[in-house]
Amino acid sequence: MSGPLESPYLGLRAFGEGDAPLFFGQENAAEEILRRLACLLQTATPLIVSGVSGAGKSSLLRAGVLAWIGEAGFSSRPGAPPWPHLILTATGAPLAELATRVAALAGSDASVLRAQLATSLLMSLVFAGHRLDL
Ligand SMILES: Nc1ncnc2c1ncn2[C@@H]1O[C@H](COP(=O)(O)OP(=O)(O)O)[C@@H](O)[C@H]1O
Ligand SMILES: [Mg+2]
Repeated sequence: MSGPLESPYLGLRAFGEGDAPLFFGQENAAEEILRRLACLLQTATPLIVSGVSGAGKSSLLRAGVLAWIGEAGFSSRPGAPPWPHLILTATGAPLAELATRVAALAGSDASVLRAQLATSLLMSLVFAGHRLDL
């Protein structure tokens, strides 16, 4: 064997997108989330993944779900286009943060997006949001 060996255990750190090759054991949950997200694309409703601290939510979403979406979008077809995606932390002003980051990604106006999100996100969370418990 040659080259440095990396430990597959990351200590307290969550697995990131770059750790996907070392991430195992959550294949079913990742597939379920991808399946649900693909269904929700038509209506643009959010999917909330919940669970106790340490259950593995961050790792599953980063190394399981986003790593896949970044590579192959929502299709298992080889050569399927990757989907743009971003990770953000809900700050003291989560909608403004979301609007700023998504606008930068999409090349749109952050303040217009912020106003649209305020109504549509709240409505979809209240009336059409989906939840998956780990
Ligand atoms: N599939 C896995 N295999 C091994 N360790 C894992 C796995 N998923 C998460 N962990 C570890 O468990 C701990 C908690 O994971 P994390 O994703 O931060 O959970 P949460 O976001 O739910 O609090 C971290 O130390 C992480 O490295
Ligand atoms: Mg977390």
